[in-house]
Amino acid sequence: MFKLKKKDLLQVSDLTSEDLFHLFELAKGLKNRHKRGELSVPILKGKVLGMVFAKPSTRTRTSFEVAMLQLDGHALNLSAEGTQISRGETMADTGRTLSRYLDGIVIRTFEQKEAEELAKHSTVPVINGLTDLHHPCQALADFYTIWEKKGSFKGVKLAYFGDGNNVCHSLMQTANLLGVEMLVVTPKSCQPRKEILAKLKNGPKKINITTSPKVSLSNIDFIYTDTWVSMGQEEIKKQKKIFRPYQVNGRLLKNAPSKVMVMHCLPAHRGEEITKEVIDGPHSIVWDQAENRLHLQKALLAALL
Ligand code: CP
Ligand code: NVA
Repeated sequence: MFKLKKKDLLQVSDLTSEDLFHLFELAKGLKNRHKRGELSVPILKGKVLGMVFAKPSTRTRTSFEVAMLQLDGHALNLSAEGTQISRGETMADTGRTLSRYLDGIVIRTFEQKEAEELAKHSTVPVINGLTDLHHPCQALADFYTIWEKKGSFKGVKLAYFGDGNNVCHSLMQTANLLGVEMLVVTPKSCQPRKEILAKLKNGPKKINITTSPKVSLSNIDFIYTDTWVSMGQEEIKKQKKIFRPYQVNGRLLKNAPSKVMVMHCLPAHRGEEITKEVIDGPHSIVWDQAENRLHLQKALLAALL
């Protein structure tokens, strides 16, 4: 079994492009075995994953729990609210303690630096299950889905519409590692963070950013969007109207090739970032993305734990 270069996955840039292809191959193998009816693959027999969630989750929590069960391990749901984190115990002390019981930790929290602090003081691998700045597990499953649909990343072009925050950052970092061309279309006040963009410059420079929703989509293979109001930002972003021109709808798709595929990390808000006709229509691959969270995370757990 191959090992990832770093102990933790806190953002996609913790990985190399070699790591990504190893993960994709491993996920493909595990998915095929599952589809053939091999429901349990005893790679993580006896291992225990703790899942510390300070925000709601349907896909991330369920897919990690099912992944551990199907790899013959076990997962513990630890809502941050139910732990001493809610009473001020530090991430450092939480990490030191949990490392004495667990073989790995998934954390979904507000600030990226909290996940970093937990990882710094944990002796077991820490996986970021979403913070304000990154959502690496989502982007890995998304690019695995793209690879599955296209067979390779050669010439693939992705356009992202919406908020330039966590999901967008992780997609950009993955696209950068894989040399995929990505067009980021965000309102002026919701641009990706400069410090994250600056680090992309070390790799292939194929990420273009614009505030104009009237961009040419004539050679785009995938259109991606995310919610306009992220968890924990409900108070900050009441101005949904700034996002209106960036909606993924039938009119937008008319400017794209007829084979364009539409992606969304979910949960979706029909009538806001995406229309019902698009997400529930023939171009949508959102359920494949959601399913692949399971297979990709199995590969990740196998490689980290
Ligand atoms: N996409 C995603 O992470 O979904 P959940 O918030 O349901 O985990
Ligand atoms: N940007 C969204 C992603 C949800 C999976 C959020 O942070 O709420």
